[in-house]
Amino acid sequence: MKDNIILIGFMGCGKTSVGIKLSYQMRRTMVDTDKWIEKKQKMTVSDIFDTYGEEAFRRMETECLKELIQTVDRQIISVGGGLPVREENHRLLKQLGRVIYLKVTPETVYLRLKDDTSRPLLKVEDPLGRICSLMEKRGPVYEACADRIIEASELSFEEIISRIMAEV
Ligand code: S3P
Repeated sequence: MKDNIILIGFMGCGKTSVGIKLSYQMRRTMVDTDKWIEKKQKMTVSDIFDTYGEEAFRRMETECLKELIQTVDRQIISVGGGLPVREENHRLLKQLGRVIYLKVTPETVYLRLKDDTSRPLLKVEDPLGRICSLMEKRGPVYEACADRIIEASELSFEEIISRIMAEV
């Protein structure tokens, strides 16, 4: 197993913000799988969904993990909210490092993302309903993948970072 710290969790749980701050504090490089895919495809995630569909994006996520396993160590890796859902990715995440799940409530996600237009899966009439149903399906998956679960809704990003740093 590699020595990366991997942040998983639902859209809007704070993976990217926490990951960036953590990378400064731990002097580690930060990789974000969405950004990695966008750079490689030269397209935004939204455009990838529109042009090629969700399944193609999911394949790109798996390819991304495989490449990261070959190329990165001692880094902070923030992964897209749907990446852990693909079963094949569980084994890859475990190989890549220590998996930390930032668990938040649907209401927290809704409040953080209600004006955000960059998440194709939430471009629906009832985003809160969508968040609740996706979270119900994904919650057990995130928990099964995680080495550590942090209940993050009530915590500041600084508090989340302290907890992660106390662990590693
Ligand atoms: C997705 C989460 C997004 C991005 C894509 C799909 C999901 O990443 O990968 O829009 O299925 O939950 P964030 O979790 O970083 O928002």
